[in-house]
Amino acid sequence: MDRKTEEVVGRKVVLAAKDAGFTATVLLAPIGEARKTLESAEKLASQLVRQGADRKSFLIAVGGGVTSDLAGFVAANLFRGIEWGVVPTTLLAMADASIGGKTAVNLGEGKNLFGAFHFPRFVVSDVQMLRTLPLREWRSGMGEVLKTAMLSGASMYRSLTNTTPSKLQRGSAELSELVGQCARFKQKLVRRDPLEGGERKLLNLGHTFGHALETSAGPRKLRHGEAVGLGLLCALEMSVEQELCRPQYALEVRDFLARNGMKTEFPGTLPSKRALEKLLLRDKKAAHGRLDLVLPVKPGTCLLVQGVDANEVATSMRQYLASTS
Ligand SMILES: NC(=O)c1ccc[n+]([C@@H]2O[C@H](COP(=O)([O-])OP(=O)(O)OC[C@H]3O[C@@H](n4cnc5c(N)ncnc54)[C@H](O)[C@@H]3O)[C@@H](O)[C@H]2O)c1
Ligand SMILES: [Zn+2]
Repeated sequence: MDRKTEEVVGRKVVLAAKDAGFTATVLLAPIGEARKTLESAEKLASQLVRQGADRKSFLIAVGGGVTSDLAGFVAANLFRGIEWGVVPTTLLAMADASIGGKTAVNLGEGKNLFGAFHFPRFVVSDVQMLRTLPLREWRSGMGEVLKTAMLSGASMYRSLTNTTPSKLQRGSAELSELVGQCARFKQKLVRRDPLEGGERKLLNLGHTFGHALETSAGPRKLRHGEAVGLGLLCALEMSVEQELCRPQYALEVRDFLARNGMKTEFPGTLPSKRALEKLLLRDKKAAHGRLDLVLPVKPGTCLLVQGVDANEVATSMRQYLASTS
């Protein structure tokens, strides 16, 4: 866990482990994406060994996605793999990062480039823990919840878009239900396609566009889930242009983002078309100037379109973002 999570929930997790008859030791993980590195992983692994960890030890990651990615990476490698579990404490980690067994650290050359699949034994989420979460972090998580609702189907999409912002915000029963739906939906896709050979790719909805915008704006101006929200709008716009979806769907999603205080415009100066194209082509699935895109049709239905010209995507994205700002 990192220092902030320790203040919020650390003691509860340690007491629960002790009550269950385990000897628990708390290790503090570094805060922030910039420190999700091999060096931090090595430090944590050394600390664990010094504190007497062995092959039967069980690692519990308590915190946001940075902590679970880092701790999961350590668990995947220490003694060639020890068991681990996750207690996610951010909305983004509950809805997305803690599910699916992807663990990784960043390299100087890019995010999440060094990692392994290592599935946790459990994920325990309690939305009450989100009461202390800063609003921006909540918004970042909400981008992923919206993405999942658009993939999952009309029922989750309607319950999300019909819930008032105040109910969505602080630890309500409605939020708890939505977080559970996100986790179960991702879990279902991951079970069917653990190594991302097919169906799991749908989870990239909004992400090819979103990652390009996130890199261009920088994390201070655009948190990951906020960028995903904008990416969803770009994907919807492209679907509308190609007559794959009704304009009403795009308007509804935009309205949901605005009502919940999320970004509907790119913050700052728009990147040039060339810069945007270059950023789009950094996507892991891009090859030879072409991209794979997930395009929304209606709640619960998306199309995976392969080999789209990155130049055309950059043009349409830029036109759309310029018209909204
Ligand atoms: N493995 C995956 O499948 C996957 C999927 C999506 C994202 N990710 C990763 O997740 C990371 C982002 O995760 P994140 O958005 O949770 O960021 P984060 O872990 O950096 O947490 C955000 C901030 O919230 C603080 N915090 C955490 N819980 C809190 C609480 N309950 N109250 C108050 N403050 C709290 C943290 O200290 C931190 O400052 C990225 O590194 C991304 O690559 C991984
Ligand atoms: Zn994401």
